[in-house]
Amino acid sequence: AMAKPFTMVLFGATGDLAKRKLFPALFSLYKNKFLPEHFRLIGVGRSTRDHEAFRQSVRESIDSFGRLKVADENEWQQFIQHFYYAVADVTNPEGYKGIKDLVEEYENKYQVPPNRLFYLSLAPDLFATVSTNLRLSGLTETGGWKRLIIEKPIGHDYDSAKKLNEQIKQTFTEQEIYRIDHYLGKEMVQNIEVMRFANSLFEPIWNNHYIESVQITASETVGVEDRASYYDHAGALRDMVQNHMLQMLMMVCMEPPSRLKTEAIHDEKIKVLRSLRRYTEEEAGKYMIRGQYVDGEINGKPVPAYRNEKNVDPGSMTETFVAGKLFVDNLRWAGVPFYIRTGKRMPEKMTQIIIEFKEMPKNLYFNKDNNLGPNLLVISIQPQEGVNLILNAKKPGSDNQVMPISMEFCNNCEQGSPEAYESLIYDAIVGDQTFFTHWEEVSLAWKFIDPIRRAWDENRHPLTFYRSGSWGPQEAHDLLAANGHVWRPAIAKDISRIV
Ligand code: BG6
Repeated sequence: AMAKPFTMVLFGATGDLAKRKLFPALFSLYKNKFLPEHFRLIGVGRSTRDHEAFRQSVRESIDSFGRLKVADENEWQQFIQHFYYAVADVTNPEGYKGIKDLVEEYENKYQVPPNRLFYLSLAPDLFATVSTNLRLSGLTETGGWKRLIIEKPIGHDYDSAKKLNEQIKQTFTEQEIYRIDHYLGKEMVQNIEVMRFANSLFEPIWNNHYIESVQITASETVGVEDRASYYDHAGALRDMVQNHMLQMLMMVCMEPPSRLKTEAIHDEKIKVLRSLRRYTEEEAGKYMIRGQYVDGEINGKPVPAYRNEKNVDPGSMTETFVAGKLFVDNLRWAGVPFYIRTGKRMPEKMTQIIIEFKEMPKNLYFNKDNNLGPNLLVISIQPQEGVNLILNAKKPGSDNQVMPISMEFCNNCEQGSPEAYESLIYDAIVGDQTFFTHWEEVSLAWKFIDPIRRAWDENRHPLTFYRSGSWGPQEAHDLLAANGHVWRPAIAKDISRIV
């Protein structure tokens, strides 16, 4: 699709997300000619500054965080002339006047349709207020389109999410709400569907007859950093599982959509969550593990325990690690365990999905030297992007000795791939909701999370501890061992570590 002229009103324009991700993404889109000739970005913030100072801060953000850098002054001027700044108290409907003036000035000047995108890069407790005030200010009365972008956390449980959704719906319809899950903007997450539905090789075996188990790991080396005020209340279950981990699960599990249209794809993803087995508070103790990091080492450097991090409650019971054994109780997946794990302060930053196929019915090559490993399809989401298919093959020059080999596709070896926010911002501009989260997904995800959260809040199941720089608590390994499985240490490049 070609992008049409639009205005983006970016609330939180002096914030961290804008600086690290949004400005660099806009610049990359501009540089790659994805933005139309006419557009205006209006940055909104609490602090007073003029357009020039704002533009300067955009420049600094691109210089520090941009995937693509500014080539010359001419290019920069062409780009930055679209940027304006408005100071506003967003809790006061009167405060929107300055924004409205800038929007209308632009629309009149170029005689472009009033297409308005409102990006709320703000604390979530402001989402409802701002969407109401957008209505009261008249900014959402437009003869063109209007769209709202918000990001997680969308509520802290089902009830709060529902309430927020109802408030927002007084101003925006479901088709106008773009809920970002930035994992859906990652190239290799989007590639899961293509790999599955564009290759006749995989579809026939993509089920419980041939698949032994699936494991999804999203590990990070960072700790809580300076986000304790949010994170210590959220925990990894809300921060990563409710959204990113379940989104990856949906991409792996969904039935082929009737066609590649947003609605058809959302339908199939939603059905996965409907089939996801919900654990009772009792069952959570058996299928879900929560862990918290104690001190240890990351890349050879000592790091403190979670409880000793800045602004963390010294008695905090917040989990920084979650492992789970999930089941999707439908005809395709009945009986196949889906293992998920995510945590902070683990040995490496890595997101990977491993599909493990069933063993051969009979091992013709069995002897003491030949331990046939299972076939694995390793989907690497980041930092390496690609796919490895692990097979067994004859060891050259041997007498039917078998060794594991890897067929590899690398998605980002020759050239870097776009950042998630580039593709998501572009999709929002052209009106493609496919890689955004539908309300039904948010709501069903919370219904899965809530009982587990309650069980943990009531301390019905133990909080386990793991050393910083380790792959999580022993309990997370025991969870798989109970089914005869193991977490496969990652890095597709070194297959000896996988098989
Ligand atoms: C965010 C979480 O949604 O995802 C963070 O709030 C986490 O805690 C981040 O660090 C991970 O994203 P990525 O793209 O770096 O894997």
